[in-house]
Amino acid sequence: MASSTTSRIFVVGGTGAQGLPVISALVADRKYTVRALSRDSTSRRAKALLGLGNVSIVEGTFADEAVLREGFRGCDGAYINIDGFNTGEKTEIYWAIRSYEIAIEEGIQFFVYGNLDYALKKSGYDSRFRAGHYDGKGRIGEWILTQNQTNKDRMGAAVFTTGPYMEMAISAMTPMSPMVEDGILTWRVPLGSGAVPHVALDDCGYYARWLFDNAERANGMDLEVAIEHVGYQKLAEAFEKVTGHPARYIDTDLDTYWNGALRMAAALPAGYNADINDKSTMSFRDNFTGFWNVWKHGVIQRDYALLDEIHPNRIRSVEAWLRREDQLGRALGKGSLWERVQPENLYKSPPLLKLSEDGRKGRL
Ligand SMILES: NC(=O)c1ccc[n+]([C@@H]2O[C@H](COP(=O)([O-])OP(=O)(O)OC[C@H]3O[C@@H](n4cnc5c(N)ncnc54)[C@H](OP(=O)(O)O)[C@@H]3O)[C@@H](O)[C@H]2O)c1
Repeated sequence: MASSTTSRIFVVGGTGAQGLPVISALVADRKYTVRALSRDSTSRRAKALLGLGNVSIVEGTFADEAVLREGFRGCDGAYINIDGFNTGEKTEIYWAIRSYEIAIEEGIQFFVYGNLDYALKKSGYDSRFRAGHYDGKGRIGEWILTQNQTNKDRMGAAVFTTGPYMEMAISAMTPMSPMVEDGILTWRVPLGSGAVPHVALDDCGYYARWLFDNAERANGMDLEVAIEHVGYQKLAEAFEKVTGHPARYIDTDLDTYWNGALRMAAALPAGYNADINDKSTMSFRDNFTGFWNVWKHGVIQRDYALLDEIHPNRIRSVEAWLRREDQLGRALGKGSLWERVQPENLYKSPPLLKLSEDGRKGRL
């Protein structure tokens, strides 16, 4: 890296569930200025970003070289989370590669790639574990680290590997949304006795900030994060303990799962702008079948000792996360966790994912 310190960060995905806490952490003490890309600078979330201070919005799409250049130019850092649920796997790969290449050309000093595990490779190339939104990112994560071996003195790069947001397990319109059935909060998912290495979005803000603050050490790093591996029996027990209300996990076979709440989505392309007639496009069902198999069969590991070192105050258990979420929700006037998961509240509150807020619509 020509310089180990960055101060102006170009962010792709800033209005998203992941981008909001990342940008909040970057600008909290005014150390960094953020230029965030959004297709709509007037959206509720774009306005919320502007309200943080030290944030500006550049309007446009990441699927346009001129827009990417405009975004990178004048910045010295980049946080790039390309939305594979817009593009689909094939197009995501192309624009992620171009983002990295254009960032170097435009003089970025430190590049952070919002990544997911290359689950297919980690499973030993077993197609039962194919999830396009994981492999699309994971292949590029590896590619960036390989490029970085040559380019690290010109532009440093780190890969930031997250995982399913913990928040999704208590939100509407996600693959693990719960339902209150006969007064019992119930998760019906095809997880067997496996576990999901869920991540806390607030901790993502901390880790992203750490990567920019520690760019020398982070150069060439794949920072793989999670709270812990969360079995859903443990999730249900922790929910009961924290709220005092009953909860349960019902292991559900894949056919039953896909004939349940997600049946309308099953045949749709996982990426809403991907062409379902393109043989490379995965349907929701195929994509998230692989996703659940990854967790059910323990394909993904984490180095929790490293995370303890990097983030000593990190959230270390699902119970601690639920307790914190309950307190935060009460403080913000959203009510207790138990109140929040009641159907009349769950489906009324603003969706966690921007994609759900936008009804899976929007341009590429
Ligand atoms: N859901 C999870 O648990 C999870 C966990 C880790 C990683 N991920 C990955 O994160 C990505 C999505 O981010 P998210 O989780 O924050 O979802 P999200 O809340 O739906 O946000 C999507 C973000 O992508 C931006 N975006 C979409 N299409 C764009 C385009 N053509 N040009 C510029 N920006 C565009 C949106 O910005 P505007 O709408 O303002 O343009 C928004 O900031 C996906 O690739 C997903 O695989 C998801």
